[in-house]
Amino acid sequence: MQPVTLRPIEMRDWQRIHEWASTDAACRFQPWGPNQPEDSRQFVADALVAWQQEPIRRRVWAAEADGPGLVGLGELVVNSAKHRQGEIGYAVHLDWWGRGYGEAIARALLHRGFGELGLHRITATCDPRNVASDRVLQKVGMVHEGTLRGTHLLRDGWRDSNLYALVADA
Ligand SMILES: CC(C)(COP(=O)(O)OP(=O)(O)OC[C@H]1O[C@@H](n2cnc3c(N)ncnc32)[C@H](O)[C@@H]1OP(=O)(O)O)[C@@H](O)C(=O)NCCC(=O)NCCS
Repeated sequence: MQPVTLRPIEMRDWQRIHEWASTDAACRFQPWGPNQPEDSRQFVADALVAWQQEPIRRRVWAAEADGPGLVGLGELVVNSAKHRQGEIGYAVHLDWWGRGYGEAIARALLHRGFGELGLHRITATCDPRNVASDRVLQKVGMVHEGTLRGTHLLRDGWRDSNLYALVADA
């Protein structure tokens, strides 16, 4: 696994993010994209607004590695502060797929979610056809709880979602 550091996203990151967010390959299983430049700028602008909100609802970090710099993104959404429920998401720059960065980002998100944010349960979902993401969730030890049917309308029709979760102290 490659080491990554998560740091708060900054406006200047949008162009690097746009390099993958504008591609069919990175967006294939996502309900968003491929992005136009204004979409990528707006994504970062919204993420910056979320950083100012209390209580915490959403955190988006840039994932940096020694050498390549920004290799991806990690996102943590708090669905319920009362019940300490969160959800993670991640993306890796196309140039760096298959090197363990996805796993490293997911691990760092879980660490922050359970550690700094004190969450009790963290979930993640992926299209069952997204084998790389499915593998990332298995590699970090998340448990497959089932497959949700017809959760997102993509450009090529409805997709299902594999639901993974980790529960603190379980
Ligand atoms: C999903 C994503 C983050 C994975 O990032 P990554 O850095 O390539 O992930 P890793 O290198 O840590 O792990 C990928 C794993 O999938 C495996 N994999 C990838 N493509 C595969 C394929 N077609 N068949 C079988 N296994 C595959 C790799 O071999 C690796 O497993 P291994 O370590 O056991 O060999 C990246 O593909 C991405 O950003 N995709 C677009 C956005 C996205 O889908 N995000 C997830 C939202 S649910």
